Amino acid sequence: MLRYYSAGESHGRGIFAFLDGFPAGLRVQPDDINFWLAERQKGYGRGGRQRIEKDEVDVLSGIRGGVTLGSPILLAVWNRDFKNWESAMDPWKPSTGDRARKVVRPRPSHADLVGALKYEHDDCRNILERASARETAARVAAGALCRKLLAEFRVDMVGHVVQIGEATADTDRTPTGELRERSMASDVRCADPEAGARMRDAIQQAKRDKDSLGGIIEVRAWGLPAGLGSHTQGDRKLDAAIAHAMMSIQAVKGVEVGIGFRGAHLRGSAYHDEIVWSDAPRGGSHYVRTSNRLGGTEGGMSTGEELVARVVKKPISTLMRPLRSVNLETRQPDAALVERSDTCAVPALALIAEHAVAIVLAQFFIDQFGGDSVAQMKRSYDAYVAALSER
Ligand SMILES: Cc1cc2nc3c(=O)[nH]c(=O)nc-3n(C[C@H](O)[C@H](O)[C@H](O)COP(=O)(O)O)c2cc1C
Repeated sequence: MLRYYSAGESHGRGIFAFLDGFPAGLRVQPDDINFWLAERQKGYGRGGRQRIEKDEVDVLSGIRGGVTLGSPILLAVWNRDFKNWESAMDPWKPSTGDRARKVVRPRPSHADLVGALKYEHDDCRNILERASARETAARVAAGALCRKLLAEFRVDMVGHVVQIGEATADTDRTPTGELRERSMASDVRCADPEAGARMRDAIQQAKRDKDSLGGIIEVRAWGLPAGLGSHTQGDRKLDAAIAHAMMSIQAVKGVEVGIGFRGAHLRGSAYHDEIVWSDAPRGGSHYVRTSNRLGGTEGGMSTGEELVARVVKKPISTLMRPLRSVNLETRQPDAALVERSDTCAVPALALIAEHAVAIVLAQFFIDQFGGDSVAQMKRSYDAYVAALSER
């Protein structure tokens, strides 16, 4: 079983990713992780934080001589901004300095208010520091290791932006190979250049209006064998695990697999993917689908078609022209906290979601094919795919 946890506050010493159950024998180098950490920080519409930090991974355990040991892996991404927050975030001494001022004007739609009430804090900073999407640096670091593992099985994935505000991309028919290249070359991570320009304009306008924007991203993963996951128990369903991983990303408000909500008006005959026999197996199986509206899963198991999921992100909660809130000290109406913030983080979400999918897929691979060593996983995987293609 592969377990992922993270720790760390946004302006604390660092952000940490813990992976327990990662197989031994995977060759890995710092750039396998640092490349994706740098990608996470890109994207039109992000705030000043990304210019201060240049994220790099520090391996604290579980990797020796560029090879995973099979022991727990602890990754650190140190916060370079910590030096400006040291006295405010000191673990032992009372908070001092410019940044020590209590946050008592909770932002609507952030974790500030309900977290302060539940944990009995009178300073919302004690909540927002952990609720912050800075945590996604840990997720990308762990996800980067997972995607490196999945590459051993020729599995890969890409996340790209399909909507920001009202600007929508036309990428449904764009082949996945092209998607990766074109979306990575775009500062809004959109493979449709014309839509990308409209997205950039929308972000600029929102910024001028001191407002924020959300949108929709899509993740596609390919190279999966048919039969990853299981119909037998809710927590073994691949699509359910993907939905859970997506919903656990900050500011995500919805997930669809395949055409999902977009297909609600269709009849079954127009929705379902028909089955044909093909000489060329897909995902190891000769039984392939003529379309992929279901997004690559049936009964909680991968079909061998591409896994496709979309995720909707609400607009950023921190507004430069703040919404109404209530001051926790006076209980009087007050304007919500204004703090350095992104205008739009949808491009970053595409990259983060791609890595969240990588963690889930690695978990399912390890559960299904055994997780002591990469060599053992490969033997088990090869035997499974050989048997599958005999059917
Ligand atoms: C990549 C990314 C960057 C984000 N940046 C900000 C930000 O700069 N300011 C902000 O208020 N919220 C930001 N958010 C959203 C908050 O972290 C999130 O809304 C908050 O933690 C409350 O959690 P919830 O929206 O999941 O309910 C970001 C989210 C993501 C995915």
